Formats: sequence, structure tokens, C-alpha cells
Amino acid sequence: MTTSQVPSAPSRAEELARLPAYRSADPAAKGADGVLDLSNNELALPPLPAVVESLGHSGGRVNLYPDPTARTLLNTVARHYDVDPDEVVVGPGSGAVLQQLLLALCGHGDEVLYPWPGFDAYPFLIATAGARGTPVPLTASGEHDLAAFAAAVTSRTRMVILCSPHNPTGRRITRSDLTDLLAAFPPRVVTVLDQAYVEFDEKQEVEDLDHRSAGPRTVLLRTFSKAYGLAGLRAGYAFAAPDVAGPARKTQLPFSVTYAAEHAAGVSLAQPRQLAERMETVRHARTALYEALRAQGLTPLPSYANFVWLPLGADAERFGAAALAAGVRVRAFPGQGVRISVGGDEAHRRVLSAARRFVTTIP
Ligand SMILES: Cc1ncc(COP(=O)(O)O)c(C=O)c1O
Repeated sequence: MTTSQVPSAPSRAEELARLPAYRSADPAAKGADGVLDLSNNELALPPLPAVVESLGHSGGRVNLYPDPTARTLLNTVARHYDVDPDEVVVGPGSGAVLQQLLLALCGHGDEVLYPWPGFDAYPFLIATAGARGTPVPLTASGEHDLAAFAAAVTSRTRMVILCSPHNPTGRRITRSDLTDLLAAFPPRVVTVLDQAYVEFDEKQEVEDLDHRSAGPRTVLLRTFSKAYGLAGLRAGYAFAAPDVAGPARKTQLPFSVTYAAEHAAGVSLAQPRQLAERMETVRHARTALYEALRAQGLTPLPSYANFVWLPLGADAERFGAAALAAGVRVRAFPGQGVRISVGGDEAHRRVLSAARRFVTTIP
């Protein structure tokens, strides 16, 4: 083959053209068809009254730009968790903070390992940052395959994303497994531990971990979207060593965190008792859903998040269709399983009625 025949690397435009567009869903249309939604891992409880009140206050200021770098949110998070502001990154959601980290740390062609199935946005964010994603399949029991992660590291690996509790299986990485895994990665690898659902985990073994004790190359990624119920406002944060957090702060889109989001996040952090009560409510509903599914003869995995995973393999889409017919939307991962967010009584009743009908049709 002559040099002229060597295929050239795809351009950025070609790479982006190959990427599927991210799913679109209009929240205003939600429920208009009478279908209840358990497909998005949203908090099934209304916003805290103090948050709604804070929105009234913020509403009168939407003609003004927010702080370009959301310094109030950054300082509030730092104070709340007793870390130095230099060790904090904030952004409009933890997905955005992950994007900031990818843009700051990964050059073109650098590799990023991530668990799969996992949060839909991982491959999307990795590709839009110009990096190369390598999915690492979960084990049959829905957990991170630690040996496979260690084996997948190459000389181009720059970042490893882990997720605990994991979306979509709800399984967690234990503290000792995490410690072993971090020790197996070379020092140039930055590990981002996505803790979007950590507050739902009663044991919070990983929550007790701080990014310093985990090692200088570990980032903890958190959000106000899940336990705090602020998905529609967009606020997320991360803890990292100053030499990782600093560059990631530089890639934050100026003015991207609204004043309303900053303010509501601060109000939420100031309500630890309400958060604890809400987590208790969700865990209670999760256990009830898990046990009711088992009573139908299904085999959900024990979950530490605000959703339950049914490893149905080839039957996943059939379950999804049965749920929709019963008036509730769940998230089917074709060929793998179904993720059901913890919801209210009526939504659970519909899921269980679908499950009853589904099990009678299993050949
Ligand atoms: C594992 C995980 N990480 C991060 C996110 C992003 O959340 P947000 O950008 O709303 O903070 C999600 C959202 O579903 C998620 O499931």
C-alpha cells in the first residue's frame, strides 16, 4: 500500500456525524398521554418547599447574568464538605462537569474506559471531547469487572470512569475493590468515580471516601439532580486534586450555571434532615418494589440507587412493551435488562401488573 492509499483519520465532523443524537424528551409532554414515567431515575418526590421558595426569589433576577464561574455554588460545596475550593469543580449538572474533566484532561485519541451498560452520555461526552471510548462490559451479576478494567488499560489510557451505585444495575463497588483497582492503574490515569446516586446507598461505603484518601488521581463526581431532586435546574460538582480541578474549572462554559440553580443547590445543602428523610422514603419504596418483583418470580438485583434492574436479557424489550401497555414507561436496554426507577404507588402498581402478565407469557 502506498502512502496515498493509507486511509486518513476521520475528521471531527465525520466522527460527530457517526454519533447518534442524544435522546430527546419534552418534560411538558410528560404524563399528557396518561403514561407514568419510571424511565429517567428522577426523584419521585416534589421539590422541597424551601427550593420552590428560592425559585420565586431567583425568578425576579432572570434578566441578569449569573456569576460566570458560579463561585457561590463552588464555595458552598467546599464549605459543606470541608474541602478547599481549589479542589472543587462545578457545572450545569454532573454530566457537564464530566465533560469539563474530559476536555481538560484528554487529548485527541486518548482513551477513556467506562463501564457498559452505563450512563448513556458516557460514550457521547467522550467522543465530543475528541477522546476514544472503550466500553468495559459489566459482569453477569451487573457489577464492574475489575479484572477487565485493569486489563483494558493501554499506554493511551488517560481516564477511567467508574460508577457506584451503578446506573443501570444499582450495584456498588466496595471500598476494598476500589482501593485494589486504583492501585492497579498507572499514575497517569485519572479515575472518575461517578457518584450520581451515592446518597441513596444506605451503607455509603464509598461516600465515606474522600478524593484525597482515594489517591491523587481520583475524582468524585456528584450531582444535585438525583437525591436533591434538582434535575431540571442543572447543578453538579466534583472533588479532585487542585492540579486536576483547576484545568477542569477553566473548561466550564462561562455563565452556564444559572443563579436559580446555584441558589437552590445552596438551599438544598442546608436541609440535611429533609434529605435523610427523603432517602429513607426512597429506600423503603425501593425495597417494596424489589420484593414485589421477586414475589412475581422475577430476579431483580439488590439495588443501592433509586432504581431496580431486572436482568431479562432477550426479554427486556418485551417487558418494556408490557409496562407501556400497563401505562408506565420503564427503560429497556435491548438484550440486557430493564431499569425501573423508584416511583409512587400508582406507578409501582402498574409495573407490577405488567410484571404479572409478563411472567405468564415467558415460554
Ligand atoms: C450515572 C450518572 N451520572 C451522571 C448523570 C448526570 O446527571 P446530571 O447531569 O443531571 O447531574 C446521570 C444522569 O442520569 C447518571 O445516571
